[in-house]
Amino acid sequence: MTAPLTDLIAIRDLDRAQVDDLLDTARELLPIARRERASVPTLRGRIVCNLFLEDSTRTRLSFDLAAKRLSADVVDFTAQGTSVKKGESLLDTAETLMALGVDLIVLRTSSAGAPVQLAREVAVPVLNAGDGWHQHPTQALLDALTLLQHRDDLTGAKVTIVGDILHSRVARSEVELLRLLGADVTLVAPPTLLPDVSGWGVTVSADLDAVLPTTEVLYVLRVQRERLHRAFFPSTREYARVWGVDAARLRRLPGDALLMHPGPVNRGVELTSDAMADPRAVITEQVTNGIAVRMACLYRLLSAAPRPEVDA
Ligand code: NCD
Repeated sequence: MTAPLTDLIAIRDLDRAQVDDLLDTARELLPIARRERASVPTLRGRIVCNLFLEDSTRTRLSFDLAAKRLSADVVDFTAQGTSVKKGESLLDTAETLMALGVDLIVLRTSSAGAPVQLAREVAVPVLNAGDGWHQHPTQALLDALTLLQHRDDLTGAKVTIVGDILHSRVARSEVELLRLLGADVTLVAPPTLLPDVSGWGVTVSADLDAVLPTTEVLYVLRVQRERLHRAFFPSTREYARVWGVDAARLRRLPGDALLMHPGPVNRGVELTSDAMADPRAVITEQVTNGIAVRMACLYRLLSAAPRPEVDA
């Protein structure tokens, strides 16, 4: 029996059975996410609120489409032009949302820990769509789904994550999930952008070129310009030269490796256009899988039924 999900805040709150169940559910929902099948009435009459207090286009769109493919109603609450900008606190906002009768809150915020706080206050499920440097669980789940479409099993798979680990909620969620699935993770980062990772169960390297030949999955993080409030590296050009992935670096990567990025890419900084066009890049698959994974998470948080009803 898989334990029911009440909220989805961090990968570490999930056990292996729950992860497997979410990924299985996402696989079943993929044809709907890909629009090969019509949307399903599963969440008809339920209201999903996208509470996005930090800029995001893709993730918000992805959650919006996911909810709509399950026939839920979606209300958008973004920071721009709302009372949050006027100083309303998150908890006041939550109270309003409860009074409006929303059934689930998807929260994106620059404050690490805010989703946990919100979950304590509201009676409906809270789904963390990224909180500061802390966690972005649906990103890790969609990446796992993508990897498992190319590999039967991730036990012992050599995954290298390169970039700004310090400011990356993606890296934190990614490492937790990859470790749970048995992968060997190596982090490559400028020393100024590497936090204390003791206890993460990972290997650290400062030499991207040295680890590429044995890398099976190369996960390139976005340079978080909006979070770089001081000079963590000399210049963007220098970053691209030492930590960026270009054609020369890709020649060092095995032919059957995979190249991933959570988007949006700073073209010419962490990835060149050549790299993005490389046949090993699965970046667009990640985007499509994101809809299916978010459908699975919404479904699991809002429905007690064991499986979505998808017509064969
Ligand atoms: C990620 C995020 O916002 O954390 N992007 C996303 O969800 N589309 C990755 C990133 O911004 O680096």
